[in-house]
Amino acid sequence: MPARVLPVDDALPRIGSGQCRRDQDLTAEELRRLLALAADVKRSPGRYRKALDGKYVTLLFEKPSLRTRLTFELAVKQLGGDCVVSIGPIAEREPVMDVARNLARWTQGIVARVFLQQTVDDLAHFGQVPVVNALSDLYHPCQAFADLQTLWERFGDPAGRKVVFVGDGNNVAHSLMLNCARLGVHMTVATPQGYEPNQNIFEEARLEGEKTGARIAHAYDAAAAVDGADAVYTDVWASMGQEKEAEERRRVFAPYQVNEALMARAKAGALFMHCLPAKRGQETVHEVMESAGSVIYDQAENRLHAQKALLLMLLGA
Ligand code: CP
Ligand code: NVA
Repeated sequence: MPARVLPVDDALPRIGSGQCRRDQDLTAEELRRLLALAADVKRSPGRYRKALDGKYVTLLFEKPSLRTRLTFELAVKQLGGDCVVSIGPIAEREPVMDVARNLARWTQGIVARVFLQQTVDDLAHFGQVPVVNALSDLYHPCQAFADLQTLWERFGDPAGRKVVFVGDGNNVAHSLMLNCARLGVHMTVATPQGYEPNQNIFEEARLEGEKTGARIAHAYDAAAAVDGADAVYTDVWASMGQEKEAEERRRVFAPYQVNEALMARAKAGALFMHCLPAKRGQETVHEVMESAGSVIYDQAENRLHAQKALLLMLLGA
């Protein structure tokens, strides 16, 4: 099936805020342009081979990563730039403020995976160079961009489609909600009690949805929520940093497993989505991950293309 993509102009679009500390740093129009550019980058990677010529990017990782780290390294290099990588706590030996000001003297951009959202905000504030959030306690925008690109490839314009996120109201759920809302995609987050999405972020997404016609909702009943879904999304029950709660969460989240019975409540041919890494037998099962509707590796591939588009919009010549 040929991918249906958005048109793209010749000039590189820009992000007015100059930042991607969180999803809200991009306007709805900039998000559309990013997705259009990501589709073009995927189709014609050779067009962008030199766009980051002479540019260096610092990648900081306080937490483990496979997809994000490798796709950012590849993205920068395939765009003609280069990167340096630092793994470990960012502010162990000196405050973030000083780290940021050092990095900004050597490299033109920072990509950071952190525990606290405040760390990303401080890097941007003190560094005065574009900062990309590569996952924080509150957001995972790069994941959401790749997810929306994946939905667009499958459905064309996904406005009016229904995505149901089942599990923990976490960073991945937050970013997906904010971006679905801005594109007019309905989204329900189904969680156990006590694991609802952050109230402020939920409210922000809900209000954004009022402008575009997207219904942003929360539910406790996963099976009812999944009724009529075009895509069902899940993520690990215990995020990085919550390892001590893993056992308790396995008990609480057991009724929220995305298995074949739950998928049967969705529309026929519904997509199964997961940001990965996944724990087979917990939040989902092997059969669903390997099913015909599973787009998990498309999502992973699109991390590369969506992040290239983001880097082009922030740093490209
Ligand atoms: N989905 C995602 O961010 O994967 P990594 O943790 O491997 O980077
Ligand atoms: N919610 C997960 C996402 C991993 C990509 C975490 O923060 O660990």
